[in-house]
Amino acid sequence: MRYWHHFTHRSHVASRPGWKSNRPSARLPAVYTGGMIPTLAWTEEGVRFIDQTRLPLEESYVLASTYEQVADVIVTMVVRGAPAIGVSAAYGVALGALRTKAATPAEFAPEFERVCVRLAGTRPTAVNLFWAIDRMKGLFARLLASGASLAHIQEKLLAEAHAMYDEDIAACKAMGAHGGAQLPAEGGVLTHCNAGALATCGYGTALGVIRSAVEMGKNIRVYADETRPFLQGARLTAWELMADGIDTTVICDNMAASLMRQGLIKAAVVGADRIAANGDTANKIGTYNVAILAKEHGIPFYVAAPWSTIDMATATGEAIPIEERPAIEVTHHGGKQLTPHGVGIRNPAFDVTPAKYITAIFTERGVLRAPYGESLKAMESSAPSS
Ligand code: MRU
Repeated sequence: MRYWHHFTHRSHVASRPGWKSNRPSARLPAVYTGGMIPTLAWTEEGVRFIDQTRLPLEESYVLASTYEQVADVIVTMVVRGAPAIGVSAAYGVALGALRTKAATPAEFAPEFERVCVRLAGTRPTAVNLFWAIDRMKGLFARLLASGASLAHIQEKLLAEAHAMYDEDIAACKAMGAHGGAQLPAEGGVLTHCNAGALATCGYGTALGVIRSAVEMGKNIRVYADETRPFLQGARLTAWELMADGIDTTVICDNMAASLMRQGLIKAAVVGADRIAANGDTANKIGTYNVAILAKEHGIPFYVAAPWSTIDMATATGEAIPIEERPAIEVTHHGGKQLTPHGVGIRNPAFDVTPAKYITAIFTERGVLRAPYGESLKAMESSAPSS
C-alpha cells in the first residue's frame, strides 16, 4: 500500500534547474553531475526518496514521514542498495524518535527497541542495515546512560544519521579514487546490478570507481548487465550513467561471456551487500556468474564497498543470509505475466562469490588483496573505527 506522498518530475535529472555541474575535468561531458543524484534527502517533513521502482521512465519522489514508511520503502525497493538502505534505516530510527509521544527517555526506550526491530526486519542480506541500526542503538544507550533529555536524544540521533549520510559520500569518493586508479586506461568495464549513486547517498561504489576513472581521463565504456529480475542494471545503472554522459551499453545477463570472449571487456567491477571475514562476497544474484566468467577469460574482477559492508563477525560466505524475494518479480514484468500458472519459481536476490575469484576489494581505507582473511584483519586494526 502506498500511503506516502508522490511527486513527479518529468525533467531529466541532469538538466534540472538549480543543479550545479560538478565537473572536475574539461574532458568530462557538460551534463556531468558528479554522481550527486538525490537518492534520499532529509526534509522538515521526513525523508524524501527518489522512487527507484519507477525509474527510468518517471523521475518521481516519495516522502516517508514515519519510521514505518521508511521500512516500507526499503521492503518495496523504492530505495535499495546496501549503503542507501543503511542510511535510510538510520533516518528511520531518527524519525521514530522525533515522532514519539513518549514524555521521557525511559518511557521512549521500549518504543526505540520496536523501531529498531521493525527496520532490521526489512532486508536480511545487506549488512549495512544492521551496522547502521547498531550504531544508532549504541548512541541511544550512551545518551540514555548519561541522563540526556528526550529533546537532546532526538537531536543527536538525527545528527548521527546526517553524519552517516556525509560519511557514505566521502567513503564512495575515497574508494573511487583507490579503485579508479586500478581500472585500465581504456576499454570496456562490465558492472552488474546498480552500485551507483542510487545505491548510496551519492557517487556510488562500483560506479564511483568508474566515475573516478573517467574523471582521471580514462576512456571507459561501461557494459551494464541488465540484472534480471529487477533490472537494476538496465533501468538504474543506465539511467544514472547517462545522466553523467558516461558511455554506457546495456547487455542481457547472458551476453557477458560472449563479449568477454571477443575481448570487449577489460575489467569487471561490482558492489557488495556483505563481505565476510575471509573475503567471500554477497552481491546481486548473477554476480557469481560474472566472477567465474572473468576468471576463465583472464579479466580482473573487482569488488567496491565501504567498510560498513564488511562483516568481520561472519566467517565465510556460507553464513551470509540470502534474501528470497517474491515470485512475482520473476513471473511478471510490467504487470504482464511471463510464465505459466503454477510453475515453480525461485527468486534468491543475492549470491555469494568466493574470495578466490576476487582480484581486489576497493574500500575507502585502501585496496585489499588476497589472502583477504589477513588483509581485512590488518586494515581493520590499522584504520580508525567508524
Ligand atoms: O536488491 P538490491 O537492488 O538492493 O541489490 C543491490 C546490490 O546488489 C548492490 O550491488 C549492492 O547493494 C551494493 S550497492 C553500492
